[in-house]
Amino acid sequence: MKFIQALQGETVWPPPVWLMRQAGRYLPEYRAVRAQAGDFISLCLNPTLAAEVTLQPIRKFGFDAAILFSDILILPMALGQGLRFAEGEGPRLPPLEDISTLRLGRAPGIYAPVLETVRRVRTELPEKTALIGFAGGPATVACYMLDGQGGGDFLRTRKLAYEDPGFVEAVLDILTEATIAYLQGQVDAGANCLMLFESWAGIFPAAQFRKFVINPNKRIISALKSRNPGLKIIGFPRLAGLMLAEYVRESGVDAVGLDTVTDIRAAQAACPENTIFQGNLDPLLLKLGGKPMEDAMRDILHAVRGRPHIFNLGHGITPDVPEANVVRLMEVIRAS
Ligand code: CP3
Repeated sequence: MKFIQALQGETVWPPPVWLMRQAGRYLPEYRAVRAQAGDFISLCLNPTLAAEVTLQPIRKFGFDAAILFSDILILPMALGQGLRFAEGEGPRLPPLEDISTLRLGRAPGIYAPVLETVRRVRTELPEKTALIGFAGGPATVACYMLDGQGGGDFLRTRKLAYEDPGFVEAVLDILTEATIAYLQGQVDAGANCLMLFESWAGIFPAAQFRKFVINPNKRIISALKSRNPGLKIIGFPRLAGLMLAEYVRESGVDAVGLDTVTDIRAAQAACPENTIFQGNLDPLLLKLGGKPMEDAMRDILHAVRGRPHIFNLGHGITPDVPEANVVRLMEVIRAS
C-alpha cells in the first residue's frame, strides 16, 4: 500500500492521494444511497449502505485510501447524547449539562454497525488501497457536545473552558477513553491506519490548546500505538497556527493534516525535519478547476518533492464540486 509506505516515511512518487469527505453529496451515486437510507445517521449505522458509499469514490477515481463512511458525532450519540442532522443546517445535539448522563459501557453496542462497515469495506477493497479509520479529536467532539451545534463560534465551550475547566476536562477524559476503545475496535475490524479530526482545534488559546487538544490526542495516540505496534496515526489540528509544531512534537502523530491557511513551506520549516504532511489544497480550487487549481497543485507538489507526502485538500470536499475536476486532479498528480 503506497499510502502506508508514505506514512512509514518512504518517499513514494507520485504521492498517494485521497480527499477529505470523498464519499459525499458531489457524487450522484452517494445521493441515491443516501435517499435509500432515509437520513444521514441511518446511513452511518447501515453497514451494507455505508460500505457501499465508502467504496464508491475508490471505484470511480482510484484514490490510494478509502475512509470509513461515518461521522465524528456517532461517538457522542453512542455515549447517550441525542443527535440529529437538521436538513441543510448540520448537526444538533442537546447541549450537555451533566456528564453522569454519558455511559461509556453502552457505546460499543451502539457503534457496532460502524465496526461491521469497517470489516466489510476491508474485505471488498483492492489490496493496494488502504482503509482509514477515524474519530473526532476529543476537543472537537466536546465543542459539539457542549454547544449542541457547529458553526465555529462554540461560545459555551469557550466560556466553560475559562469558568469551569474541570467540567470540560471531565468531558474530555470520558471522550478520550471512549475514543481509544472505538478506534481500537476499528483497528481490530481491519482499519489500516487512523486519523483524528481535531477540526476546531484553532478556537483554543495556547494554554487551552495544550490541555484540551495536545494532551488528549497524545493519550489516545500513545495508548493505541502501545497496543498496536506499527500502527500509523494522522492528526488534523485544523487552524492550529503556530501551535502546529508543538502539536506534532508532543502528540506522537505520524503525519499531520494541513488546513488551507498554512503555508506548507513554513510548516516544513517549523515542524520536526521528517514530519509527513497531508493537505492543503483549498477545496474551492477543486470546485473551480482549471489553471488556478493546477497551479496550486503544482506548487504543493513542488514543495513536497523528495519527501513522503499525502496529497489531500485542506478541508472537506464541498457538494458543488464537478467530478471532472476530481478526475483532472488525479491526472495532474499521476503525471507529476
Ligand atoms: O471523509 C469522508 O468521506 C468520510 C466520512 C466523514 C463524514 N464526516 C461524512 C459526512 C468524516 C470523516 C466526517 C468528519 C466530520 N464530521 C468532521 C471533521 C471534519 C470536518 O469536516 O471538519 C466534522 C466537524 C463532522 C460533523 C459534521 N457532519 C458536520 C458539521 C456536518 C454537516 C456539514 C455538511 O456538509 O452538511 C456533517 C454531515 C456529514 N458528514 C455529511 C457527510 C458526507 C453530509 C451529510 C449528508 O449526506 O447530508
